Amino acid sequence: MTTSVDLVVAGSTVRVLVDPAPVTAPGVPTLGPSVGEYPCYDTASYATMTDDEERNQRFRAALARVAAGRVVLDIGTGADLLWARESVRYGARRVIAVEAMAESFRRARTWLAEPGLADRITLLRGVSTDLDIGARADVCVAEIIGSMAGAEGAAAVLTDARRRHLTADATVVPHRCVTLAAPVAFRRLFADAPVAFAADALPYLRSVFAWHGAPFDVRLRVTDPATEALLGDGQVVEVLDLNGDLPLEQRRSVRLTIDRPGTVDGVLCWLRLWCQPDGKPLDALRVASNWASIYFPLFDSEHPVEAGDALDLTVTSTLGEDGVHPDYHLDAVLWTATGTRSARHWSPYRGGGFRRHVVHRLLFP
Ligand SMILES: C[S@@+](CC[C@H](N)C(=O)[O-])C[C@H]1O[C@@H](n2cnc3c(N)ncnc32)[C@H](O)[C@@H]1O
Repeated sequence: MTTSVDLVVAGSTVRVLVDPAPVTAPGVPTLGPSVGEYPCYDTASYATMTDDEERNQRFRAALARVAAGRVVLDIGTGADLLWARESVRYGARRVIAVEAMAESFRRARTWLAEPGLADRITLLRGVSTDLDIGARADVCVAEIIGSMAGAEGAAAVLTDARRRHLTADATVVPHRCVTLAAPVAFRRLFADAPVAFAADALPYLRSVFAWHGAPFDVRLRVTDPATEALLGDGQVVEVLDLNGDLPLEQRRSVRLTIDRPGTVDGVLCWLRLWCQPDGKPLDALRVASNWASIYFPLFDSEHPVEAGDALDLTVTSTLGEDGVHPDYHLDAVLWTATGTRSARHWSPYRGGGFRRHVVHRLLFP
């Protein structure tokens, strides 16, 4: 059962297809907009991250190794001042924490009343790329990693940090993040669940549209997708080596081989993250974490495929209009026994139009 809800955004009305049922059980596929790359964090989104043990144990293990006696920079500390506080717990000599969002900064500041924090943590309000932090840090913890690894601007932010905020041999946590992609059909990601935005996604749609000033084709974030919808193994389409070569823009081409019969209309992308070179990676499709997966539409309808068919995919990330957050460009060719089909999708950070693809026309009727 789905219903339509009217959202009023910047004086205009947007109709949204919604599943009115509350999300009752973990593991049920749900749809929302991708918002991590926008300044739309609220109490609930910080709580989800602060409670994300799969993520946090990996960050803690890395900080336990590198923080003691060092100057740590926490980029995007969030409302809970989380990695700044943890760095102090692991013996950091000094921590500089920066937060871009005013309300998150205000809430982070209240943590400084806790014993032993105010004399070791300096909290700065602003975007790291605009700030002068007045020191060089030996360690940088930057949890600005998206469900598409680079979507929150980590490449540009860390490139700037290495140039202006960090010592020459500084260690960055996390260590490496990649984005994987696999061929899917959108509807099948939801198994028996309705194909519609979850009711609790509406406030996020409203705030990301309000930030933008108008509705646009948001990236589609699928939590707990039905993994049987993936018709082949994931291949790496984006790489962020945060302690190595970190290009601001990149292009990767892969062949996604179909391993069983089904239908394909796009790709599902998800994050794999290492906090330390020798640590166990977090694969966002395999463990429950705050990261979800992102569906990108390619074709206007589902195309039947057989085992042995292939989807050739090129994913290009270029700097978006703010010079920090990437735009993603997907180019694909589907090879089947019945013919070859090409497709292209552009997912800019900002702008790019509204209801350009059939899937966005379905979700915004
Ligand atoms: C994914 S949240 C992480 C919050 C917290 N560090 C954690 O791990 O739970 C990213 C946070 O970084 C902030 N942020 C993103 N880019 C930033 C930048 N370049 N400078 C300062 N804050 C930034 C956002 O406002 C948001 O609060």
